[in-house]
Amino acid sequence: MSSSTTQIFKNPRAKHNFQGRTCSIAGVGSYVPAKIVTNADLAKIVDTSDEWITTRTGIKERHVAAENEFTSDLGTAAAQAAMKKAGITADQIDLIIVATITPDMPFPSTACLVQRKIGARRAAAFDLEAACSGFIYALEIGQQFIMSRTYDTVLVIGAEKLSSITDWTDRNTCVLFGDGAGAAILQSRENAHGLLTAVMGADGEKADLLFMPGGGSRCPASAESVNSRMHYLRMEGKETFKNAVQAMQTAAEEALRRCELDISRIKCIIPHQANRRIIDAVGERLGAKPEQLFVNLDKYGNTSAASVAIALDEAVESGRVQRGDLILLVVFGAGLTWGAAVIEW
Ligand SMILES: CC(C)(COP(=O)(O)OP(=O)(O)OC[C@H]1O[C@@H](n2cnc3c(N)ncnc32)[C@H](O)[C@@H]1OP(=O)(O)O)[C@@H](O)C(=O)NCCC(=O)NCCS
Repeated sequence: MSSSTTQIFKNPRAKHNFQGRTCSIAGVGSYVPAKIVTNADLAKIVDTSDEWITTRTGIKERHVAAENEFTSDLGTAAAQAAMKKAGITADQIDLIIVATITPDMPFPSTACLVQRKIGARRAAAFDLEAACSGFIYALEIGQQFIMSRTYDTVLVIGAEKLSSITDWTDRNTCVLFGDGAGAAILQSRENAHGLLTAVMGADGEKADLLFMPGGGSRCPASAESVNSRMHYLRMEGKETFKNAVQAMQTAAEEALRRCELDISRIKCIIPHQANRRIIDAVGERLGAKPEQLFVNLDKYGNTSAASVAIALDEAVESGRVQRGDLILLVVFGAGLTWGAAVIEW
């Protein structure tokens, strides 16, 4: 980018005679299903209220996919929007990574189904599972292929049909989640820093805070697994909340430290959209001003791997983020997993 912006941060990729290319986001796109479920709608099926959901989470409504609309459909729509904005065709795509915890089926990968739908016949394709942190994990992995000159164009997607693993009788969880997808086209852009750094972390000791017990090799689908509702996600809300705030703060600080950036230089902070109180607590701990934080969870709830991708697309579309601005993505999810990325847009 311009010489004025190059002076305000250190590019950690550029040290030690770095020979790779930089990696930029050439276009982002998103898609949410048409159907909207409001808090008032939920109050008709579980013992809750708009007032409780709004004050405890900040969520007002969420989008829910149709019965015949699957994660690969949501991901495909987001991918096509991102491809259009990047000005690329399907045959240019070398690799497709889909971050999801709600694949269409355990195998083949949702990435292969997206590959078929968009007609990206040259592309390799695989899924990545890092729960709500998946989009940053996918960005970081995708960028490795660009930097190493292995590939020129990588499509990364965060897509979820969380309504398919939500227990609609459990008020503790069903009010929190929604369906949607976001996608980004990664390419190298001349004279641009792009993705400056990405932090990824995990703590498997806390795997039991947020999980889905059924449907895997430990507890394959059976009448018994369905009767005991093992095919729905389960969560320890309070502990998850505390860990989310701590992990997001630590990840964001590490990403900023690597770039020698003060939080005040970040034009837009795009946090994982799980809970308004988590976002505010992380913003406060980072010393950010409220206007630096991008929030859209009132409209979508927590869409897991799609969350920051949808938010990034909206931030760009609304003009909150302009070319050359610095943005900070910060995420947290089951695993536990977390991540943060600094991007010169
Ligand atoms: C789930 C969450 C909103 C609950 O908020 P909280 O302030 O921790 O609420 P508590 O767990 O203390 O529950 C308080 C009460 O509200 C009740 N409650 C839970 N969900 C409710 C709902 N939808 N409507 C009304 N009451 C509800 C609980 O049963 C509890 O009642 P009790 O005191 O009689 O047992 C919050 O813990 C949270 O957001 N956690 C993180 C979740 C998350 O982000 N997960 C994804 C990470 S990627």
